[in-house]
Amino acid sequence: FLVFIILCTPAVIDGFTLAKEANFNVIVKTVNQMNTTWRAALNFDPDHYSPEDLRGLCGVKEDLYGFSKLPTSYHNLEGIQIPKEFDSRTQWPNCPSITYIRDQGSCGSCWAFGAVEAMSDRICIRSNGKVKVEISAEDLLTCCGFECGDGCNGGFPGSAWKYWTNDGLVSGGLYNSKVGCLPYQISPCEHHGQRPKCSEGGSTPGCVSKCLGNTSISYNNDKHYGLSSYSVGSDPTQIQTEIMTHGPVEGAFTVYADFPTYKSGVYQHVSGGVLGGHAIRILGWGTENGTPYWLVANSWNTDWGDKGYFKILRGNDECGIESSVVAGIPKI
Ligand SMILES: *[C@@H]1O[C@H](CO)[C@@H](O)[C@H](O)[C@H]1NC(C)=O
Ligand SMILES: *[C@@H]1O[C@H](CO)[C@@H](O)[C@H](O)[C@H]1NC(C)=O
Repeated sequence: FLVFIILCTPAVIDGFTLAKEANFNVIVKTVNQMNTTWRAALNFDPDHYSPEDLRGLCGVKEDLYGFSKLPTSYHNLEGIQIPKEFDSRTQWPNCPSITYIRDQGSCGSCWAFGAVEAMSDRICIRSNGKVKVEISAEDLLTCCGFECGDGCNGGFPGSAWKYWTNDGLVSGGLYNSKVGCLPYQISPCEHHGQRPKCSEGGSTPGCVSKCLGNTSISYNNDKHYGLSSYSVGSDPTQIQTEIMTHGPVEGAFTVYADFPTYKSGVYQHVSGGVLGGHAIRILGWGTENGTPYWLVANSWNTDWGDKGYFKILRGNDECGIESSVVAGIPKI
């Protein structure tokens, strides 16, 4: 119970929440019989996982003291034309990080992943494709400290962006990649095959302040800074304008027990109680069979969902997806 309460916001704790969830076989069957806007599949092996096991992967903490609050920035929407479809991957084809799907492993570090993914994209976009760097999830996860929350036990997306402007972040790619100064030090975990099970938030690695990947890089010389960080207004047009102008953003939403089974289509909550808060990277939007959606990258590897991505209903603040978008401008 304690862990659960720390990971979730009180607004989403209700009578349902603490009840044991149906297993994934039942959820998949229920969703697929509903003829809703999305299809479910067994992304997580039901013999080894219950929905409750995934609470540790939903690492957005409740911000009791308003630590992570960022000023809200509003775009002047006068004369702005919003296209019906937008995909950052095709808009900025010279920025490969936009197409990367990472893996947070058995650690509630989504708050750091959504941030460093969008920062990497924005650095490339702002430099017109000249600076291609993967910002290190490890540096943010391990060195931000309590200002960002509690590492693998959950954190605050807003503080991640603040840390970027104040302290900077070094480069660092995937686990074992040797790419950049500080690659991720937590191994990918398994959803339905050979890798170790994704479950309890593991312990947070220490802040080493040195390069463990490419050791010919100097940690202190490799810091990439943000110029500004801010919240984005929750009006969908504000979020769209922000993405079109500066690139992908970090968002957060409430994960219900049906979400881990997402396979294709446009997700909306149809079954199950709350598992926790989760942060992700939003990179575009569109409409599928008449249903408007946001295009989102998750950090549960490419064998989860639709090759690592999902679509979620746009325009209704589905699961809170439109009400906690944060972003920033890189210092180039
Ligand atoms: C759902 O779709 C299937 C296949 O299109 C159809 O056979 C079934 O009757 C539908 N169920 C409902 C409840 O509409
Ligand atoms: C390591 O970093 C140096 C200095 O930035 C760079 O020249 C070199 O190509 C990098 N090596 C690898 C294997 O990425």
